[in-house]
Amino acid sequence: MAFTLNVNGKPQVVEAEEDTPLLYVLRDELGLNGAKYGCGVGQCGACTVLSDGVPLRSCFVPAASLTARKITTLEGLRGADGKLHALQQAFLAEQAGQCGYCIPGMIMAAAALLGVKARPSEAEIRAALDANLCRCGSHNRIVRAIQRAAQ
Ligand code: FES
Repeated sequence: MAFTLNVNGKPQVVEAEEDTPLLYVLRDELGLNGAKYGCGVGQCGACTVLSDGVPLRSCFVPAASLTARKITTLEGLRGADGKLHALQQAFLAEQAGQCGYCIPGMIMAAAALLGVKARPSEAEIRAALDANLCRCGSHNRIVRAIQRAAQ
């Protein structure tokens, strides 16, 4: 079936089965590879994007169910001038990634948090990212990066 998604501020006509997860459409149809496939069952957060500003696990939500939503991916955080988002800059500055696989999901979860609270406490940051897994153990640097971006 064909349907239209609003991704990073642009309408995108896609052709996919009714139950195709958003992650597959983003990566395979639209060439947006920021969101990663980790567990595929909503447990790790590597595939996190924003749906109307709210974190969404894109690996198991059918894309066709999101036609009324504004989807934002990691690629969509850049400014119109191409500059990296403050979170992206801060993650680089703090060397928050080790293997880096979880980082897109971490950044998107952090973007959702900063969207509702400009200066979250450390406890609020840790709570907001609690369900995003990092197997390298980079959590402390990730928290520092978010604190830096929130300054
Ligand atoms: Fe979606 Fe793990 S890949 S939550």
